[in-house]
Amino acid sequence: MIDRRRILTKIVQSFSVVGIFFAGYPFIKSSSIFKDRQHELEIDLTDLSVNKVKEVSWLGRPVIIVRRSKKEIAAINARKTLLKDPLSDFSVQPSFAKNNSRSIREDIFVVFGNCTHLGCIVKSRLTPGESRFNCPCHDSKFDGAGRVFSNAVAPRNLEVPNYFFISKNTLLLTASK
Ligand code: FES
Repeated sequence: MIDRRRILTKIVQSFSVVGIFFAGYPFIKSSSIFKDRQHELEIDLTDLSVNKVKEVSWLGRPVIIVRRSKKEIAAINARKTLLKDPLSDFSVQPSFAKNNSRSIREDIFVVFGNCTHLGCIVKSRLTPGESRFNCPCHDSKFDGAGRVFSNAVAPRNLEVPNYFFISKNTLLLTASK
């Protein structure tokens, strides 16, 4: 009789443990232990010198990373005219990039390479002048912060993805906010 009671107690305890696990699974899954690494991409910037560009593919889209020169940073900050959306009010970027440089750090610019007109992939100029990015399809031009010039057919600035810096020379593209 005692043995039967013990067995029943063990069975009930086992079901309780399983029940607690399934009840808590959504919370465990959303915790950092089970962080979704599929939607993240770590990028090493040590070999990215001034004025140079790095291109990676992330979530099926091209991402361009630029190390800006002091001259380019000054040009971005000075430019207030001839842009369609100079303050990025109608453009897509994380809140940290709604500023003049459209970036966390002024020296590093991270942007999706798809033109906001019909999605063609923009080309970064080797020696940026007025424009830094040109679209080969209908010649829209964008400045060093991906802001579209007012005479272009592209309606908005280039889109900035979500990212943060893990260290001085390592950034992480991440879908999670
Ligand atoms: S797709 Fe870029 S200007 Fe048309």
